[in-house]
Amino acid sequence: MRGVTVWFTGLSGAGKTTVAKAVEVALRARGVRVERLDGDVVRQSLTRDLGFSREDRDRNIERVAFVAKLLTRNGVICLASFISPYRAVRAQARREVGEFLEVFVSAPMETLLERDVKGLYRKAMAGEIPNFTGVSDPYEPPEHPDLLLRTDQETVDGCAARVIHLLEQRGYLS
Ligand code: PPS
Ligand code: ADP
Ligand code: MG
Repeated sequence: MRGVTVWFTGLSGAGKTTVAKAVEVALRARGVRVERLDGDVVRQSLTRDLGFSREDRDRNIERVAFVAKLLTRNGVICLASFISPYRAVRAQARREVGEFLEVFVSAPMETLLERDVKGLYRKAMAGEIPNFTGVSDPYEPPEHPDLLLRTDQETVDGCAARVIHLLEQRGYLS
């Protein structure tokens, strides 16, 4: 089995974690070896020393890319869900990992504010969270993602199915 990293990038609340979890379930049902790396989880262990300055976000992604490379070269499908707002470090992750598919998980700000899953946008708008991506910190959208998911227009299952289809198309699943 050829390993690959599927890299989900997008704003908080866009649906990175939800889609990655749905893809994980679908892959496990097919007997595929899969690991999921998620910003909220990784930041409690491997990168718990890091904050949200550009420098720290870049270091976060560099460490994750290192782990993703090890998993990928051992035949695992690695699902990485990180805001990863900067194009340059996403490109660096792609170069390091090699087998790498970038999935842009996208929804309009209006939808994100409505969802506000963790109440972070309300706090960020009130100025209680500095450097909050999309509010007071930049997000550089991918220019040529391997896949674009519009989560305000597609269901979770529909999005997961499109990721699985991409993996099939590119020869990572039989
Ligand atoms: S990054 O930019 O890739 O290093 O971020 P990541 O590791 O994915 O962590 C994002 C999660 O951290 C929470 N959080 C914030 N996000 C953005 N900006 C600020 N200032 C911030 N502070 C805390 C938030 O729960 C993010 O998770 P998601 O799943 O994206 O909502
Ligand atoms: P992120 O990890 O990008 O911050 P989450 O997955 O935590 O985002 O939150 C996304 C929210 O949007 C969840 O409440 C989820 O149920 C909802 N949602 C609605 N439609 C979709 C979709 N098509 N894909 C992903 N999430 C969706
Ligand atoms: Mg998440």
